Amino acid sequence: MNDLGNNLTVKLYNGIEINSIGYGTWRVNDGEAKNMVKTAIDLGYRHIDTASIYGNEQGVGEGIKNSGIDRKKLFVTSKVWTSERGYDKALYAFDKTLEKLNLEYLDLYLIHWPCAPHISSDYKRVNIDTWKALIKLYKDGRVRSIGVSNFLPKYLNDLMDLEYRPMVNQIEFHVGYRQEETLEFCKQNGICVEGWSPLGRGKVLSNVTLNEIALKYGKTPAQISIKWCLKNGVIPLPKSSDKNRMKSNLEVFDFELSTADFNALNSLNLGSSSGLHPDTFNR
Ligand code: A2P
Repeated sequence: MNDLGNNLTVKLYNGIEINSIGYGTWRVNDGEAKNMVKTAIDLGYRHIDTASIYGNEQGVGEGIKNSGIDRKKLFVTSKVWTSERGYDKALYAFDKTLEKLNLEYLDLYLIHWPCAPHISSDYKRVNIDTWKALIKLYKDGRVRSIGVSNFLPKYLNDLMDLEYRPMVNQIEFHVGYRQEETLEFCKQNGICVEGWSPLGRGKVLSNVTLNEIALKYGKTPAQISIKWCLKNGVIPLPKSSDKNRMKSNLEVFDFELSTADFNALNSLNLGSSSGLHPDTFNR
């Protein structure tokens, strides 16, 4: 146990520490968020992931306040939605996000999805303008780190030579969907990878290989999935609305995955469980 919660921390390239497991709040509605986030913090989560599109920032903020925890001990992330792209709109979106969360600052602010050629022929400029807004927020001290989400290497490349490169890339990452090329690019460039839907929305948990491995370690398939993310150097953001599952999703630091089991899981190819891809995503 360290003073940032009962999971370990990793350092971003700017020296900021981030908890190695986060609580994902996608599909937790605003009403539920208040209780769920307080419960998560009570259980030991210190890293909370939300987004303006989730529509739950107010509830997340209330959960944080009600937990009574020292703000400095939390790592809070939110994201710029697709309709908030562009320099001025992103700055405005950030203000709204802070207001809803009722916080003074964020620990991490991400561009939720890249603008892409199927959306605009000017997509590179749109991504750069949005990124420049995040750089301003970072330099103004309103957010401790900045990054992107769902950026493939070809989209990341457009941001690499600006004043700051992304510190984080949050991508779909679960057993059977490892996104090797993006993972490798981020590793090479010191960009921390976070995994959304690390349980494949619950769909991959019935996989036979995963279950055989789980049985061997006396762990649940979800715990093996989370451990597998960590062993890949990825920060998983599991979501659960159930207190017992929320708790067990954190209990992954008392065993090691063998290289053979790790490799067996790495070689599974189940495809994306969300079916979402930056080259076709159009919301
Ligand atoms: P629930 O909220 O009822 O626990 P992901 O984080 O990959 O998007 O997956 C979220 C889904 O996985 C949710 O449906 C969630 O359901 C389920 N889930 C979360 N933790 C566990 C667990 N430990 N065991 C089984 N299912 C889980």
